[in-house]
Amino acid sequence: MSKSLSNDNQAWGSRVGLVLAMAGNAVGLGNFLRFPVQAVQNGGGAFMIPYLVCFLLMGVPLLWIEWSMGRFGGRLGHHSTPFILDSIVKRSFWKYFGVFGIFTNISVAAYYCYIESWTMAYVYHSVVGTFSNMSQVDIAQFFVDYTNVGASTTGIPYESIVFFVVCIILNTYILSQGLSGVEKAAKIGMPLLIIFGLFLAIKGWTLGTSGATAEHPNASAIDGLNFLWTPQYDSLTNPKVWLAAAGQIFFTLSLGMGSIQCYASYLKSKDDIALNAVSAGFVNGFVEVVLGGAIVIPIAAGYLGLDWVKENAGFGMAFQTMPYLFNNWGVALAAIAGVMWFGLLFFAGITSSLAMGTPWMGFMRDEFNWSSSKGAWSFGLIVLILGLPTVLFFNYGVFDEYDYWAGTVSLVVFAMAEVLIFVLVFGADRGFNEINEGGDIKVPIIFKYIIKYVTPVLITVVFLGALITPEGNDWAGSFQGLFAGNGWTFDNSSIIKQATLAGLRADIAAATDASVLDHLEKKLLYVTGARILLVSTFLGIAGLVYLAYTRRVKEGRI
Ligand code: TRP
Repeated sequence: MSKSLSNDNQAWGSRVGLVLAMAGNAVGLGNFLRFPVQAVQNGGGAFMIPYLVCFLLMGVPLLWIEWSMGRFGGRLGHHSTPFILDSIVKRSFWKYFGVFGIFTNISVAAYYCYIESWTMAYVYHSVVGTFSNMSQVDIAQFFVDYTNVGASTTGIPYESIVFFVVCIILNTYILSQGLSGVEKAAKIGMPLLIIFGLFLAIKGWTLGTSGATAEHPNASAIDGLNFLWTPQYDSLTNPKVWLAAAGQIFFTLSLGMGSIQCYASYLKSKDDIALNAVSAGFVNGFVEVVLGGAIVIPIAAGYLGLDWVKENAGFGMAFQTMPYLFNNWGVALAAIAGVMWFGLLFFAGITSSLAMGTPWMGFMRDEFNWSSSKGAWSFGLIVLILGLPTVLFFNYGVFDEYDYWAGTVSLVVFAMAEVLIFVLVFGADRGFNEINEGGDIKVPIIFKYIIKYVTPVLITVVFLGALITPEGNDWAGSFQGLFAGNGWTFDNSSIIKQATLAGLRADIAAATDASVLDHLEKKLLYVTGARILLVSTFLGIAGLVYLAYTRRVKEGRI
């Protein structure tokens, strides 16, 4: 058998480039937009212990697993998960599980690029000074208008579509340059992001109580920092906090998506994994916890008070509140801070969205000989088609639907399958050796047992917990009820109830106001449409995998 079955012989240019690209893949909007919201909603210091435990017992082991699976597949000429899995579990249906590793990336890119395009627009508006004379209410309204296509009051009527398209074209152009384009983007974007982040974090650390006013006498940035950094042990027994922490670890480290495997498939056979994987993981952790935790929360608490932050955790903090708060720093500094904040978000976003394009490109090159530019432009087109509904019907839940199924549930499902394959089929011992092969450090032996016993159990528990979340998140009470013979009532946030849209249907049944009812019914329609699109995307990719497989069999390349 020839060494490589693919004509894809790209490789990373340098070790620095590789680690920055991997870190860029992980460091994303999740670090600056998702993390602070999750932390606030789950009790600040109460969130951090489960978060760190999940990082060590699930995050790091999965990084090693995905890096080594990727390098293993790359050796055989596979650059996406369907045939990476097929090379481990030969000629089995598992390759269709690998479809997740392309599907997730494409579907997440569809809504992720939309947020990324907001950050471009907000950089532009910070530069031209759109926000400088606006009141808090006006800046908040600006975002509402921006995401409500056609309602824009700022000049260009379809501004959000324009920026979305520009953002996709930019991504596509960089991707069309192949792996070296991705590497170059990371080498420029990551250092800038860290500089911008440090500037804003220093502001957050040093603001103190200087932002307190008559209107917000209790405002204090220190309260914001303490909230995050004072450990709280009482919620360690609350599964909701653990589920949120596990979900954040998955999303932020780009685990269970297939994009790490793809990047790792461009390693050389004997390149280090053991050290590189943890390095990229730690860069992500540093950027998330140290920088991501030092910007939005303390700055908002510093001007509006911690209670305000707790009540208003969400996208709004980043896009509706930050530009207003920057105005406290004077016109020039406000513009600079705006450029830095939204510029940081943009670099974080683009180095991740580029990663989402690579599995599709790798697959189409391996199987159908597509060039980088053909792969990139087809990716851009698919993302545009799949993404437009999130732009046009943002207020009707399409965006959230993509985020839930592609950006949350799929990751855990795929990671579960992958860990089981790694431990049971590839073999824990062989897998552990594979991780250490070529390593610049030796992975502590304890991780062999963590990978074998702890990680798979933890992921399964996380999945089951999300699947059957009991009403009101009351696990203790629900188990008591179950044993008392009262059955089990699912919460509307459980995967089972989400699948049947129980919450939305209940809202429709309860709606009395005609316009509310109209909105909810439209929502039901668009959410159903979103599901049809997602399922079609999955099936379309599965069809391509089938086609590729039959070709391989016919040509004896399997
Ligand atoms: N880790 C990224 C973040 O924190 C998100 C991300 C990167 C991602 N690659 C992905 C999500 C692939 C889904 C699929 O923002």
